[in-house]
Amino acid sequence: MALSNSVENKHILITGGASGIGAATASLLASRGAKMTISDVNSALGETLVKQIVNAGGQAMFIYADVSDAQSVAELFNQAKANYGAVQAAINNAGIDHTPQAMHLVDDAVFHRNIAVNLAGVWYCMKQEIIQMLGNGGGHVINVASVAGLRSAPMIAAYSATKHGVMGLTKSAAVEYAKANIRFNAICPSFIRTPMVENVLANVDERVRNGMLKANPMKRLGEVEEIATALAWLCTDESSFMTGQSVVLDGGMLA
Ligand code: NAI
Repeated sequence: MALSNSVENKHILITGGASGIGAATASLLASRGAKMTISDVNSALGETLVKQIVNAGGQAMFIYADVSDAQSVAELFNQAKANYGAVQAAINNAGIDHTPQAMHLVDDAVFHRNIAVNLAGVWYCMKQEIIQMLGNGGGHVINVASVAGLRSAPMIAAYSATKHGVMGLTKSAAVEYAKANIRFNAICPSFIRTPMVENVLANVDERVRNGMLKANPMKRLGEVEEIATALAWLCTDESSFMTGQSVVLDGGMLA
């Protein structure tokens, strides 16, 4: 059985694609020949990334969408399909975190915003992805969860709850749509050097900062390229027997 390791001309959509893990992944996939739909609420960064990709000979379009808004997500998927045809692989990556804080002190609004972006956002995208993939003979949905979706994450309980929810959506959809040839997997990184994490590191005391920097046996942050390459592999047919699972990229944290 020969399985293609290529993403050439595959239409891949990524949310939160303007920064961090999303931007690194979009650039890598475009450099390997994928047709990228890059979506984000940050249009300036997203448009700049698309220009860089196109200047380097790649194929990419930017579409603004706020994943916490079902209508905005529906418009994103309609526009993406009109540009490049049905989405063949999708990476639900857009996400936010919150300032580490004891659970009883976290404002309810912070909890609800984390749910709206990280969990409802993935839900809205998955529904649109399933609709397009059902009409196109299948596809692969990859959710960016976190080690905080697999284990305790003290001081970021609201964030952790959303990522556990994403794991639930991933596993349930994998079983529901296996016969329809739609696969669902997740990746679960530990702390990765992105603007999200740099922002937290800048706003916590030294004890917490050292705890984050040395939270895994490798005693370092992950780099975005180390996540992008795993996502790029998942987007190929080489991952074809994998569904309902997660790839843990954590420097050994959960070992
Ligand atoms: P980042 O902050 O660099 O990128 C997140 C992107 O999502 C930004 O471009 C932002 O504009 C976009 N975004 C935020 N709210 C949005 C919304 N409502 N609609 C559409 N786009 C929105 O962060 P990073 O670190 O690259 O995070 C990407 C994903 O990886 C997130 O889901 C995060 O939870 C997850 N993750 C990150 C880890 C890390 O240590 N950096 C570890 C584990 C998971």
